[in-house]
Amino acid sequence: MELTPASCWPRLPATPNPATVPFLASGLAAELAYAFDGPFHFVLPDAFTANLLALRDVLAEAAVDGFVYYAKKANKAAVFVERAAAGGAGVDVASAAELREALGHGVRGEHLMVTGPAKGTGLLRLALQHGATVAVDALDELDQVIALALAGRLRPARVLLRVLPPTQPHSRFGMNEDELATALKRCREAGDALRMEGFSFHLSGYALQPRAELAAQLVDLCATARSQGLAADRISIGGGLPVSYTDADSWHTFLADQRPAHFHAEKAFRSGDFYPYHSPVAGAEAVAALLAVRPADGERTLAELIRQAGVELLLEPGRALLDQAGATVFRVQGVKDREGYRIVTVDGTSLSLSEQWFNSEFLPDPVLVPRERAARSGEFPASVGAATCLESDMLTWRKIAFPQPPRVGDLLLYPNTAGYQMDSNESPFHDLPLPPKVVVDRTDRPRPRWRLDRHSA
Ligand SMILES: Cc1ncc(COP(=O)(O)O)c(C=O)c1O
Repeated sequence: MELTPASCWPRLPATPNPATVPFLASGLAAELAYAFDGPFHFVLPDAFTANLLALRDVLAEAAVDGFVYYAKKANKAAVFVERAAAGGAGVDVASAAELREALGHGVRGEHLMVTGPAKGTGLLRLALQHGATVAVDALDELDQVIALALAGRLRPARVLLRVLPPTQPHSRFGMNEDELATALKRCREAGDALRMEGFSFHLSGYALQPRAELAAQLVDLCATARSQGLAADRISIGGGLPVSYTDADSWHTFLADQRPAHFHAEKAFRSGDFYPYHSPVAGAEAVAALLAVRPADGERTLAELIRQAGVELLLEPGRALLDQAGATVFRVQGVKDREGYRIVTVDGTSLSLSEQWFNSEFLPDPVLVPRERAARSGEFPASVGAATCLESDMLTWRKIAFPQPPRVGDLLLYPNTAGYQMDSNESPFHDLPLPPKVVVDRTDRPRPRWRLDRHSA
């Protein structure tokens, strides 16, 4: 069957990742697919370390006293926690299991930040025992922290008060102005049982200006709290640093051109439902840009405001620390024809590609790693389905223009999946095994080394 011409199919080539080149060239991907007899993720901890160093460099260049907590929810692999500990970073945890994992992989208790709503007594007790900072989300939680601190006679509970962002009043997280005033009063009354270290927020979306504005408001809140005799010397601006998965041209062309005909079953996506797969500034550069914003009266930059207030800036990036730190490999298990395109079925599920479960699509082009180079080359559009009985279980609804016809036994590599894609929604549906995580380091060698990750939960 003659397939529709190539120009019909928008492309979103992933930002090149030099570390995957020797991995693919060495033939390791096919060997591992054979060994695991199913899909697998590979993680690249050196990229994590490089991202962490870049963030710290930006803080140093701006002369801002700062501390980075890796938001562990973005990936379960132990190796990233190990790298955070080795790199002098902390870890943001949101469950007792995450807290135990972080401690077990070398992070000091006082370098933990406990986030999330209504944390539960077990988690709060562990946090207090280990000297972790608790980002308190509600007044009843604060009461519980104070009660535990008083009963435990341990060291003082360390807390930040999480602020309900005025620009996102419908968020279910954080405390409003009145609740914050009450919280400050209760912190004062708690006396030595508690150290009120400051305020925190996490904003949805990736825009820098609202983050800078709210950060400046938190600096002011610290001044108010200090005037009441509280320590208030830290602000956490949460995560949400943007990541660029593709180049500007491809992204804008895609947004302008995309329409239901580009997707299996004519599925319609609104452009606003997609993660912004390109961002003009991303990762550490976004922190530099954020610190250079002039919020409030526009006179001083955020960096100056933070410095002058003698406040420590805390960051909780997940996705940005994991940029280019892993990819996911599936094996093609079947190929069938549809009108004008093909459906490729792989040996795993979209539960290992979480974006598919947010009424959206993981857009960076998957890369075909064929068993053999085909004689024919050109444009061969195909969507990618999962090995399950669910009609909606598609790894890629979009018709990807592959350079040769995908065949059974070929591999499909989904690039840059370490941030949230790999495991936040994973499930052993159909009794399929969860894809293992392979740690690949020393990618500078002709044959990279690998081992299994040590995640234990
Ligand atoms: C409180 C908090 N901190 C940090 C993060 C990490 O965000 P990101 O991975 O976008 O950096 C999140 C994500 O939901 C969060 O809720």
